[in-house]
Amino acid sequence: MNVLAIETSCDETSASIIVNGGKVESTVISSQTRIHAKFFGVVPELASRAHTENINLVISRVLSNSEITFDNFSKKIDAIAFTAGPGLAGALLVGAVAAKSLAIVYEKPLIPVNHLEGHIYSSFIENKLIDHPFLSLIISGGHTELILVKDFGKYKILGRTRDDAAGEAFDKAAKMLGLSYPGGGIVDERAEKGNPEAIRFTRPYLKGSWDFSFSGIKTALLNYLKMNPVKNERHLNDICASFRQAISETLCFKSFAAAKDLKLKRIVLGGGVSANYLIRKMFLKAGRENKIKVFMPPFIYCTDNAAMIGYTAYLKYAKCGLKYSDTQLVSNPSLNLEDWQYN
Ligand code: KG4
Ligand code: ZN
Repeated sequence: MNVLAIETSCDETSASIIVNGGKVESTVISSQTRIHAKFFGVVPELASRAHTENINLVISRVLSNSEITFDNFSKKIDAIAFTAGPGLAGALLVGAVAAKSLAIVYEKPLIPVNHLEGHIYSSFIENKLIDHPFLSLIISGGHTELILVKDFGKYKILGRTRDDAAGEAFDKAAKMLGLSYPGGGIVDERAEKGNPEAIRFTRPYLKGSWDFSFSGIKTALLNYLKMNPVKNERHLNDICASFRQAISETLCFKSFAAAKDLKLKRIVLGGGVSANYLIRKMFLKAGRENKIKVFMPPFIYCTDNAAMIGYTAYLKYAKCGLKYSDTQLVSNPSLNLEDWQYN
């Protein structure tokens, strides 16, 4: 079973080939960060245009990496997967149209994949030992979601952010500090050289709920900077380290509290922010202390990529077969993880 997967939900145009047993043979990711950097955020119209310009090249590259040509495509590819949502409407449409066109021309089944489901299972692309149930924490530029994964396809959202996503908080902090976009990785690098106890930012635990809120930390940083403008490199690194500490502690505290409350023995991270050095270290340490197994994606599969979409499509195939026909399928910017149907 070989799958060609396409991901275009936000600002990465990506394609991947997944071969027998869910192995990633080749992945191509074309990032648009340079286009959006001057706006300090993703501009939907520019994202759709860039996907339109890049999609053919990205698909051609991934096919040629696997020595697939338009002549042997039919023999080598069994199904085409694409991100059906959630995401930016125009961006999703580009991937969906590309996938449908190939499916119609080569008479292949289509496998729609929920982008969040891709992030959930990205931890298992290389480590295939998936044991349900588990707690999934998706932390990215657009999402902060705590999800009870009862089984494949059986999801319950326990909590989510009430305002900014974790990655958005990092990106906005970077902007306030005069750093570039996307800021998560840059703040993380600087934080490695700073003192996390230099400044005490609020930890918004929102007791009695599994929701998150990061706008308070962001305002705390803004107020701090009004009173204490950045003096030098060392001061900047200390601010980054203190800010990262507050976000990481909040994410870790709430995730382990939820896992213990629900008696779950596994926590699985996913999304761009799960590349954060401190978050990875903190979760592994808390996992050892609480006897909860922690899974996280390798760095290459933290941010958006088509390999996680192809791998999830492979799991869907293994679980329920290929039951989709192209006429049923549309992308949905607000696709709900809990409503995703498998039969
Ligand atoms: O998963 P992703 O590629 O896109 C969405 O689905 O949103 O995540 C991108 C986000 C950005 O906000 C970026 O700043 C953040 O992930 N990010 C990080 C790190 N690397 C990327 N945040 C914190 N620490 C990092 N090392
Ligand atoms: Zn994502």
